[in-house]
Amino acid sequence: MDKNAYYITTPIYYPNSNLHIGNVYTSVIADVLKRYKALRGFDAYLTTGTDEHGQKIMNAALSHGSKPQEFVDRIAGETKVLLKKLDIDYDSFIRSTDPKHEENVKNIFQYLYDKGDIYKGHYDGYYCESCESYFTESQLDDGNCPDCGRGVNHRKEESYFFRLSNYTDKLKELFKDHPEFLEPKFRQNEMLNNFIDKGLEDLSVSRNTFDWGVDVPFDNEHVVYVWIDALSCYLTAIGYGYDMEKFNKYWPAGVHLIGKDIVRFHTIIWPALLMALDIPLPKKVFAHGWILFDNDKMSKSKGNIMYPEPLVELYGTDSLKYFLLREFNFGADGNFLSKKFMDRYNSDLVNDLGNLLSRTVSMISKYNDGIIKKGLEEDEIDGELIALAEKTYEDFTKLMDEFKFNEALECLWNLVRRSNKYVDQTEPWILGREENYDRLNTVLYNLAESLRIIAQMLGPVMRNTTEEILRQLGVENQGFESAHKFGLIKEGTKVSKGENLFNRLDTEKELEKLHALNNELVEKRLGVKKEEEKEEEIQSKPQIKIDDFDKLDLVVGKILEVNDHPDADRLLVFKVDIGSETRTIVSSIKEFYKKEELLGKNIAVIKNLKPVKMRGILSEGMLLAAGDDAVLLTTIKDCKPGTVIS
Ligand code: ME8
Ligand code: MG
Repeated sequence: MDKNAYYITTPIYYPNSNLHIGNVYTSVIADVLKRYKALRGFDAYLTTGTDEHGQKIMNAALSHGSKPQEFVDRIAGETKVLLKKLDIDYDSFIRSTDPKHEENVKNIFQYLYDKGDIYKGHYDGYYCESCESYFTESQLDDGNCPDCGRGVNHRKEESYFFRLSNYTDKLKELFKDHPEFLEPKFRQNEMLNNFIDKGLEDLSVSRNTFDWGVDVPFDNEHVVYVWIDALSCYLTAIGYGYDMEKFNKYWPAGVHLIGKDIVRFHTIIWPALLMALDIPLPKKVFAHGWILFDNDKMSKSKGNIMYPEPLVELYGTDSLKYFLLREFNFGADGNFLSKKFMDRYNSDLVNDLGNLLSRTVSMISKYNDGIIKKGLEEDEIDGELIALAEKTYEDFTKLMDEFKFNEALECLWNLVRRSNKYVDQTEPWILGREENYDRLNTVLYNLAESLRIIAQMLGPVMRNTTEEILRQLGVENQGFESAHKFGLIKEGTKVSKGENLFNRLDTEKELEKLHALNNELVEKRLGVKKEEEKEEEIQSKPQIKIDDFDKLDLVVGKILEVNDHPDADRLLVFKVDIGSETRTIVSSIKEFYKKEELLGKNIAVIKNLKPVKMRGILSEGMLLAAGDDAVLLTTIKDCKPGTVIS
């Protein structure tokens, strides 16, 4: 590997449908990381692409009435258009149907077979089509796929196997000797406890029930398992097998960026394969969390998918990249709420950053005819701002190097906010009125310089914004490293007032626009008609520990009596048998039920809720009901009163 090279990969996306905001999250991170590394002097190289073989893709094509190749050609094309739109600066886009790639997959398979690392056997197990993976009965999770939770089919078939079991000890060593190999750290235990320490089984690496794949070179009944095919893309994208000079320059990868659902493939199967091939291992695999959409898993069948196109079209790439990096803790799950996007846009981009630029440039125009001058009078408070600006560079780069993108941006925004506060503290309009130019010029210079530093550091994330800030300040882009030093703007530099960087969004209106555009795409791409609905911000409560839940005494109760509350129209008074005793419980579910309907029903009761008087009657517990229609939890009809719910 070239010492200066830094090779980054995104997963090779399945072209069974268009990329949604969750997929694009990986691409945006990869893009920002690549730009950051390049700006810091690395020869950074980014690969992305499409994983086009396998039964899942074949079925997707069939369900659209297309031939597989036509179908993947279309989606791969649309994926490239989208990545361009998102300004993702990739260097190679590898498609697993590329003949050069296919040829090398065959060579790899042949090599492993000749070496004895692949052998022919029989598979008897359960197949998850979505993950394109086999599982043994004991690996299943309640009879379902342990990776994605979907249903599986029993299958018995001839298959080639890779001797993964031989690599158990080597993988243990890898995890022990290279704790930096897989991040975040807690994923290491998942891999060790759930797989490696249990001992690995050989891996089925061919399929003979469909033919949409790379042919096994020595047996045309079989095609190569799609994950072997897909992972090899990381190699063939940079010339493996046909441009070894390039390959040797960039390999081993600096980082494979992936989602948490495909950690096992990247940190068990992939290193074992590379060991078998005598190819050095990637330096790091970093798994990000899951992005939920409006608190729900994005699901194509339900149509609750957020596509990135409407966001880019309405608000531009910079703000989308900023939001994805700032809002989500890289590594943890997060929730994409369009309303939060608007909120951050208005607060961080319009109020904080946009405002800092427009007031700085306006004041320089107003008081100094647009000319930046060095002032003659300093103050203690200047030192604070300057020290923070210089420290921000240190902190920002450290956090970026640790993949803590949200914290890095938070740290940069501290400087933005500190600069705005500096304006409020120094009150340049008073200095102007009093014609105290010695002091005023110092203040304006410091603001311009602070903005220059902010703009330079923003480069990897919001390159258009960087350029616009520098343009309005009238300074050249001197590169990321110039953020290191305060005081580089030359006296006499002329600012030029421009448009607002960002304009305030009317949240309600924008939500409507955004959802309309997105729903149009959902309908076009998935054939699912989504109702026009207002986004409701679902308050997610803070996480609790199991001990918190244990504090609840939750039991089954049987309704013995139901009466109207004598003094309240909306309340019912229940007598409920909770096993140990009969309780009086008052509840406001009257409008949803007839009293007779409720009599004799088993319901869930919180037994240890502190009794409260409701319109004069002491209520000694609470009934659990779901949603606005107060649906009672009555599936516990066969349980004895007093049965503990846990
Ligand atoms: O797994 N939030 O492809 P893929 C965050 N072809 N990330 C998400 C997500 C969500 N809601 N949904 C999906 C594959 N992803 C294979 C990869 S690599 C050799 C082969 C992420 O299209 C997911 O975690 O199903 C993965 O990193 C990426 O999108 C592509 O998923
Ligand atoms: Mg997937």
